[in-house]
Amino acid sequence: MNVEVYISQEEIQVRIAELAKKITNDYHGQEITVIAVLSGAFMFCADLVRQIQCPIKLEFMKVSSYGDNTSTSGEVKVDLDIKSDINDKHVLILEDIVDTGLTLTYLIKHLNTRHPKSLKLASLLSKPSRTVHPIKIDYQGFEIEDKFVIGYGLDYASKYRELPYIGILNLEC
Ligand code: PRP
Repeated sequence: MNVEVYISQEEIQVRIAELAKKITNDYHGQEITVIAVLSGAFMFCADLVRQIQCPIKLEFMKVSSYGDNTSTSGEVKVDLDIKSDINDKHVLILEDIVDTGLTLTYLIKHLNTRHPKSLKLASLLSKPSRTVHPIKIDYQGFEIEDKFVIGYGLDYASKYRELPYIGILNLEC
């Protein structure tokens, strides 16, 4: 198998710097509870939070989806929850990719029951052509075509997450 570079390391870093600047301006020095959704968002999170010039409380969640992701019948389960109370806090969810939108639709609904002061979403990637559950992405890295992407946190059978770029896996090689 070989990997074709789809979004280079440099393009990712340039975009992340832009997003961090916008987030810094929008929150005006207020504390942000950043919730990175594991596992895919770990690298995006590490690069983004280092450039946000606001106090950050960093939390992690893990969720898994079941059933048919391509329809409204999919189910999402929380495998790892955050430790802190987000009541009246500014919360920013970090994701690597929004695909059908099922996971984030669930997560946003779930976290809103805890009454945050604000709840926003940053996602490095989204695949608009795959959207089944439309959601607002407040800070969007790149919109991509419907391709199987790996790297920069995204995996194929738990591999390739460590790549510093987004690639496309050529399964025929
Ligand atoms: C990916 C991604 C999102 C979800 C998006 O996670 O990190 O959480 O899929 O898909 P959706 O919009 O169709 O719900 P995945 O389940 O691959 O887990 P991982 O982050 O541990 O790789």
